[in-house]
Amino acid sequence: MSQRLLQSVALITGASRGIGREIAQAYAKEGATLCLVARNPAALHEVVAELALPAERVMTVALDVTDRAACFAAVQATQARFGHIDILVNNAGIYQAKPFLDYTAQDFQTLLDVNVMGVIHFTQACLPGMQARKQGRVINMASTAGKWGSRNQSAYNISKHAVVGLTRCVALEASPYGVTVNAICPGFVQTDMLEELKAQVALSSGASADEFVKAALARVPLGRMLTTQEIAGMAVYLGSAESSGMTGQSIHIDGGMVF
Ligand code: NAI
Repeated sequence: MSQRLLQSVALITGASRGIGREIAQAYAKEGATLCLVARNPAALHEVVAELALPAERVMTVALDVTDRAACFAAVQATQARFGHIDILVNNAGIYQAKPFLDYTAQDFQTLLDVNVMGVIHFTQACLPGMQARKQGRVINMASTAGKWGSRNQSAYNISKHAVVGLTRCVALEASPYGVTVNAICPGFVQTDMLEELKAQVALSSGASADEFVKAALARVPLGRMLTTQEIAGMAVYLGSAESSGMTGQSIHIDGGMVF
């Protein structure tokens, strides 16, 4: 165990399952103290039980990232309990597939409220403390969908493009304080979201879920879906001292897909 995050306090959103849960596990192994955030308190407690950390190294906050006041209160509670926050992992996100003309205005708003405004709320809540200490890492979970166009998921893609843009802009403003802001752009990662995505894409495109998987994998040179561990490794790197010279980047982990 390398303990690359020893004495770091990390707040991870969307930590109840999938990529966020894997990041929580990886961070715990690397020695971090954690505040785990998601909507479902029971699911968060399951993760805490799995981590088997001493009580003084973990807390949970159940909230919806669209609730700005709750996001600020969670950051305050974490700072009150652990003193400060070194690493913010903005991982919570939702997906929805529909042809552009079928999306309602509310569909767009919902995707943007969670995937973009959630990131904004937590980043605005954490940055003042990080900048005051001249130390901090913000890691945003974007997507390859934030780098290129995709059919039948325009609302998701624009939300992830916004996360990539936000990463670039906040990195510039935070850099005088030594705070870095980077994003991870995963391709296809085997999680519950991917299972939901297969079903939704099938419905919106008329292709079966198997046909979608076959077509998707044909675009991935490594020829397989990625694991959550493959994403968590990059989140550890971006949270650790090893990445101190890197900011404003949005890094693909996508099995070699190039557009
Ligand atoms: P998932 O659906 O398995 O987990 C999402 C997590 O976010 C859950 O903990 C959920 O409770 C939380 N969450 C969702 N909406 C929330 C809200 N309004 N308030 C608080 N928490 C909320 O998803 P997965 O696959 O683990 O994805 C994590 C992130 O990675 C997302 O931002 C997603 O867009 C991104 N991503 C996933 C890819 C994949 O293939 N699975 C590919 C590219 C990006």
